[in-house]
Amino acid sequence: MNDCIIECCGLTKRYKSKAAVLNAELKIYRGEIVGIIGKNGAGKSTLLKMIAGLVYPTSGELHFFNRAAAGEQSFFERMGVLIENPGLYPNASGYENLKLLAIAYGLKDSKARIEELLQLVGLDSNNTIKVKGYSMGMKQRLGIAVALLGNPDVLILDEPINGLDPQGIMEIRQLILELNKEGLTILISSHILEELSKIATKYAIIHQGEIVEVISREDLQHKCEERIEISVEAAEAAIPILERELHIMKYKVVDGRTLYVYDTDMQIRRITQVLVEHGVMVDSITRHKQSLEQYLLERTERAGELHA
Ligand SMILES: Nc1ncnc2c1ncn2[C@@H]1O[C@H](COP(=O)(O)OP(=O)(O)O)[C@@H](O)[C@H]1O
Ligand SMILES: [Mg+2]
Repeated sequence: MNDCIIECCGLTKRYKSKAAVLNAELKIYRGEIVGIIGKNGAGKSTLLKMIAGLVYPTSGELHFFNRAAAGEQSFFERMGVLIENPGLYPNASGYENLKLLAIAYGLKDSKARIEELLQLVGLDSNNTIKVKGYSMGMKQRLGIAVALLGNPDVLILDEPINGLDPQGIMEIRQLILELNKEGLTILISSHILEELSKIATKYAIIHQGEIVEVISREDLQHKCEERIEISVEAAEAAIPILERELHIMKYKVVDGRTLYVYDTDMQIRRITQVLVEHGVMVDSITRHKQSLEQYLLERTERAGELHA
């Protein structure tokens, strides 16, 4: 089941001397929702465009199902793409837009399929409003319907929730989860980690063209989970005391001298007191709480320092 369907191997795109994306390494497995996170100008769109076959890499390779993509157009046809402007006809309705595209794609008997798609993305197929009268959220949803028209296996969405109101964001998230449940593998970009935190199964953090970290949802949640970090002489001496005296059961031994306690209702003062009373010296004890955005900032700043 763990099929690696897309692999970026040292994928690089240069514009003149500037690298928009540099040596990107990323594996995408079937069924994942991969969040590409980075500030404006980080290289998200360029990376997605290369994966979608819309921009040709300067160097590096794309592999689909462990085969080099070069010269294999067929896999790109299995992708549905919404990058930047969905290219809608402003003077046509949602239904008409999809109908025009279906004709262009040579799809026969497309009426039922179009109605199904419109329903799926939450647009009314009987609605005759022209696209130029659509709200941002409606345009995005129609854009997703357009991307789905060819019945893709992989859906690539570049900042689909950019500029949407909270209600719109929630609806798009819901839609993405539904599509994923139906079997689509999804790549989605955003400059706000929090926005994807409820849906992505994995994140690739991109900074100045480079992927600085690929991290699973579980690992990210763990890193941002509230905890008390305790530094002592010997962690193994502290554990029985914490368990017996304070009934702390949710903890992790990080190394011989460091413990994380996840029973965050516990008072720091109390922990220190009990440890010292039982002869364990406490070097430091701090409450650690970090938002996803703080984590992202720290992660990209650290990457920036390496470059300096
Ligand atoms: N067609 C292009 N020509 C020249 N530079 C480009 C082009 N496309 C993107 N860039 C540059 O590459 C960098 C990454 O851009 P982009 O992939 O659009 O980032 P993001 O989508 O994360 O905002 C930016 O510095 C941008 O100015
Ligand atoms: Mg972009």
